[in-house]
Amino acid sequence: MNPANAWLLRNEETALVAEPSPSLLVDALGGTDNYPVDRQAVDAGEDRAPGGMAELRSNRRFLERVVRYLVGECGIRQFIDNGSGLPTQQNVHQVAQSLDPAVRVVYIDNDPVVARSPR
Ligand SMILES: C[S@@+](CC[C@H](N)C(=O)[O-])C[C@H]1O[C@@H](n2cnc3c(N)ncnc32)[C@H](O)[C@@H]1O
Repeated sequence: MNPANAWLLRNEETALVAEPSPSLLVDALGGTDNYPVDRQAVDAGEDRAPGGMAELRSNRRFLERVVRYLVGECGIRQFIDNGSGLPTQQNVHQVAQSLDPAVRVVYIDNDPVVARSPR
């Protein structure tokens, strides 16, 4: 589990989260920082739209490629990730700082679950 998301486990133990969160669905595609209800929502989505979850994963790979291009080819060194969701695999700062550790990223999200995440 990403250390920044350790508080999620505490919530799971106390069953505070009963509905899937858009912020956690991306991680539920293969990460470890999500709730059973999020994984069930991913499974239900796959049942309703077979192949749709693969497209969501592709979307995440696209995000990585765009960040690599902006840092590597365009020289961008400051990012605002609006609608970031919770930390997952290959977050914008991880991709960008793998090319230049001086890159700075500000994450924004209007989901209260994300707002409760430790900063
Ligand atoms: C499906 S997640 C995408 C997460 C990540 N950006 C990705 O591409 O994997 C969409 C996120 O956008 C956030 N969001 C939706 N509307 C927003 C708004 N008006 N302002 C900020 N965040 C918003 C949601 O809370 C959610 O965390």
